[in-house]
Amino acid sequence: MEFVEKSLGNVLGYKTLWYNELASTNNVAAEQLVNGCPDGTTVVSDFQTKGRGQQNNSWESERGKNLTFSLALYPNFVKAESQFTISKIVSVGMVDFLASLDLDARIKWPNDIYVGDKKIVGILIEHSVTGNSIANSVVGIGLNLNQAVFVSNAPNPTSVTIELGREFDREEALSQLLKCIEQRYLAVQQGDVVTIEHAYLNSLYRLKGYHRYESDSGQFDARIVGIRNTGELVLETKEGKQQHFAFKEVRFLL
Ligand code: BTN
Repeated sequence: MEFVEKSLGNVLGYKTLWYNELASTNNVAAEQLVNGCPDGTTVVSDFQTKGRGQQNNSWESERGKNLTFSLALYPNFVKAESQFTISKIVSVGMVDFLASLDLDARIKWPNDIYVGDKKIVGILIEHSVTGNSIANSVVGIGLNLNQAVFVSNAPNPTSVTIELGREFDREEALSQLLKCIEQRYLAVQQGDVVTIEHAYLNSLYRLKGYHRYESDSGQFDARIVGIRNTGELVLETKEGKQQHFAFKEVRFLL
């Protein structure tokens, strides 16, 4: 596969491999880690033939329109039990980037990025753990940037172009968003965990008020009261009953 090597940042994207076409950038980023690439190596592809989403879904992205890329990280400053911190860093960084475009984006727990009730960014993180720490992580990000029409059965997609009515330079956008994630990544690396926790919580979609959810035991109205260190969502019903849920154990209903 052909690629161009670029440098788009100080840590994240310092080494960027930009492909025309790949099966999945997550796979190539994983290979880079095996070969001992620098922290923050970024693999981008104009098109993925097997772009992967969460829960074995595929990821729709029109050729050359969006940003589909993966970061190869060595976040060995994060304990295995706190691996959700990486989700927080990346999702808050993406919200920061979208805010810089004047888009009020929110994080739909655990790490989808929404504008209004529509998804604008999908994130797929794969960790490899050694002992108590994370040895490395592949952070795959699909940002709908310039795509105007979605054809797959993705439930509720939107894009920056749909929201703002204009197109953006992809390389410039990537370099800006890498800076946003890098700021959050380095702050946590330097020991500031409190700031990212607050920022994550305050950026949550449906943070305020009661909303409808569905779990194995049926539908219920509840409000978000917190996120556990493990990443579990804590919900409280109007009667004051609290319950925590792991990913896939609860669905947000409209
Ligand atoms: C989701 O289902 O919300 C996660 C989507 C993640 C898509 C990105 S695109 C770049 C990277 N490579 C992949 O194969 N998937 C992720």
